Order: sequence, then structure tokens, then C-alpha cells
Amino acid sequence: MAQLWGGRFTKETDNKVFDFNASIRFDKNLFVQDIEGSIAHAVMLGKQGILTLEEKDAIVKGLAGIREDVESGRLTIDETQEDIHSFVEAVLTERIGEAGKKLHTGRSRNDQVALDMRLYTRTHVLVMDGLLRELLTELLSIMEENTETYMPGFTHLQKAQPVTLAHHLGAYFEMFKRDRQRLKDIYFRMNYCPLGAGALAGTTYPLDRSYTASLLGFEGPTLNSMDSVSDRDYLIEYLAALSILMMHFSRLCEEIIIWNSNEYRFVELDDAYSTGSSIMPQKKNPDIAELVRGKTGRVYGALMSLLTTMKGLPLAYNKDMQEDKELSFDAMHTAETCTELFTGMLRTVKFNRDVMAKSAVNGFTNATDAADYLVNKGVPFRDAHGIIGRLVLYCIDKGVGIEDLSLEEMKEISDKFEPDIYEAVSLKTCVEKRLTLGAPGPEAMQEVIRLHKIYLGEEWQKGTEKNE
Ligand code: ARG
Repeated sequence: MAQLWGGRFTKETDNKVFDFNASIRFDKNLFVQDIEGSIAHAVMLGKQGILTLEEKDAIVKGLAGIREDVESGRLTIDETQEDIHSFVEAVLTERIGEAGKKLHTGRSRNDQVALDMRLYTRTHVLVMDGLLRELLTELLSIMEENTETYMPGFTHLQKAQPVTLAHHLGAYFEMFKRDRQRLKDIYFRMNYCPLGAGALAGTTYPLDRSYTASLLGFEGPTLNSMDSVSDRDYLIEYLAALSILMMHFSRLCEEIIIWNSNEYRFVELDDAYSTGSSIMPQKKNPDIAELVRGKTGRVYGALMSLLTTMKGLPLAYNKDMQEDKELSFDAMHTAETCTELFTGMLRTVKFNRDVMAKSAVNGFTNATDAADYLVNKGVPFRDAHGIIGRLVLYCIDKGVGIEDLSLEEMKEISDKFEPDIYEAVSLKTCVEKRLTLGAPGPEAMQEVIRLHKIYLGEEWQKGTEKNE
């Protein structure tokens, strides 16, 4: 295979070396970006008079034709080429002749691949943003329907205080909203065009880098050519954002798996999102939730891998950077698939409201409210805490809840108890009284839902904000 750089060499590359070095098996994913970047480059070269208008037109037409042919299946990407850049240039030259050989004027594969990868990542940041928006919309609609669906809130996986399903899922709404905000930050920080940086030190041709940048929808050109070809921060940031997102999914999956267990039965997963066992006929397993939880490790791995690849690299480009691709493609694909599937699972899950409410009553989730009741009757909180502690001990002994005791039994422990204690420790009161903003009380929850609706209504206007 004739290589782009063959001139200086007197011997063919060893076959195994060629394979080891080649990246086409995976950088063929960058085909569309490579064509788009090359078209912008050629248009700019034409505008600057570096290419004649005829040459520019032939190149642009040729590149568009290659794209069409690959997309329609008339042309297959030749995997014996070294990389996608070599493939495109080879086909172009084969099709349009001499002009094809001029496309690479004022460009290196170093800034070319830096551009391709940035374009690819930018597109996927937007795809992920759309998927997260759908997920948030789904979460919000479940929240709206469940502001009075009581369930136990846990700390240490021990029942703590009653909350609502809306409130519990609202916590995840906040997490996924922050994930989305991180994408936006990354987008605006990364949206600068590295093309024109050349191999590392710019070029001697009068390129108009701002023009190329604007053709490709960037905010402007990057400002240091060495950094331009060796910066992978945006990818690391994106992998970090995806890792945090996956961590959120993993936590919610873990809860869904627990809630779906025979012991809890808070939820029933839809048949379409569960699988059976080859041996145990009764089984309906939460495999999708488990797989999403499992795939989290894979995305973390990509982040760790790229951080490690980059840590010892001197400026500027080094071939180590070719290792950024497979893992990033995989992490982006994994996180997108997980988000889509997770949203589908959430859309079809059935919440067993009665079981949740029953569970919220058991386990002394109203003990804090009972203490607060005494505080309202003038007992110092520390004393109230002690009194209710003794009351709980008494209940455990008897195998009942606070609300099951007679007033006489309560009065034996403190004479501050009055008949209104029953109302004060009822599940409904315990939840409804939690009215501070961010708390599970239905009124507080309604206010938060209102704010979330405004947030989801606001479209993220890409390109209108500068990252300064
Ligand atoms: N396949 C290479 C990569 O992904 C493209 C850049 C090659 N540059 C070079 N100087 N060999 O990084």
C-alpha cells in the first residue's frame, strides 16, 4: 500500500508494523467529519487564492461524491489504507486527478485529526443533550403524577423519614440536570477550530483560519498551534461528564434493582425490559438496570485510559494520541445507548404505590415527627429525642408502631402527649408538613416542578453563548 509519506522511505513497512500503526479500522467512524473538514479547508484555500476556483470546485464536488457513495453503499471504505484521511485523499485523487493532491496544502494530519475528533465529539455532545432532555421530561412526568405517592426515605439503607416518589426521583432530576449543564459547558469551551495549526507550527500559506472556523460552526480558531494539535482536554472533560452521568444511572439502577426485589416489590419492571432465566422458570430479572450499572465501569475505564495516555506526552502531537479514539467512540456509544434504554425502562415501569406507602409507615419513619410534636409542646429537642427513643423501644418490644399505642401508654412515658399526637404522626402529616423548598411536601414539590418545567422549556441555544 502506497503511503502518504512514502517518499522518504526506501523499504516497505513491515506488514505487522503497518497493521499496528494503522487506525482505519476505527477512525473510519470519522468519515463524515473528515469530509466536512476537508470541504471547509478546500473552500478556504479557494477563497485565499491558494487553490484556483476550478481546483476548489473539483475538490468540493469530489468530496461530496465520495460521501454520497459511501453513505449509499456504492463505495466501501478500504481498510487496507492507513487511516481515514489517506482513504479519502486516495479516492479523491483517483477520481479528480491532480487537484486531489492539492487538498492537503497547508494542512497536516495532526490538525486534521484534531478537527475530526472535535467535530465528532461536538455532535455527540448534542446527541447526548437531546437524550438527557427526553430522560428529564420522562422523570418530570412521573414526578407530577406522584407528589402524593408516599415511600420511605432511607439513610444507610435504613428507613429514615417518609418522602414521596416525586421527591425521590426529583433528586435524580437534579443530577441529570447538572449532567446536562456540564455538556453545555464543555460544548462552549471546546467549540474552537484547530484546523490551520498544521503539524504543530502553523503554515506559511495565507490561510484564513477564522473563515474555516466559521464554515464549520465554530466560535473561532484556536490560538496556539502546538496546543491545537495536542489538546485532548475536551475529550477528557466529556469522558468525565459521561462518567458522572453513568455514576448517576448506576445509583438509580441499583435502587431500581433493590425496589424490584422480592423483598421490596416497590416496582415492577415491564416484561419488555426484563429477562428470564434459562433454568428457573419463575425468574424475571432486571438485566437492563444491571447492565447499565455494569457498563459504568467501562466508561470510567475510558476516562482513566485517556488521562493515562496523555499524562506523559511532551508537546506537540505524539502517536499515543491515536489511542483516544476507540475508547471514546465506545464510551459515547455506551452512554447514549444506556440513556435511551434507561428512559424506555422508566417509561414502562410500574410503581406499586400501596406497597410503598405501607413500607413508609413501618420502621418508625414518623419518630422525628413525634419528637417535633413534643418540641411544639415545649419540650427541649434533646429531651424529646430521648422520650421518643424510649417510646420506640417500647413499641419494638410490643411489635407495634408509635401510632398504634394508646394515649395512656404514651402518657406513661410523657404527660405531654395529647390526642392530637395521632394526627401529628400520621404518614400524610409527616410528608405534608415538610414544606421547605426542596422538601417532599406536595406544595413544595409543586413549586419545584413548576421551575423544572420552565427549565425544560428553555432551549439551549448553541452558538449564541461565548465561553469567555
Ligand atoms: N491516525 C492518527 C491519529 O489518530 C492521525 C494523525 C497522524 N499523524 C501523524 N503524524 N502520524 O492520531
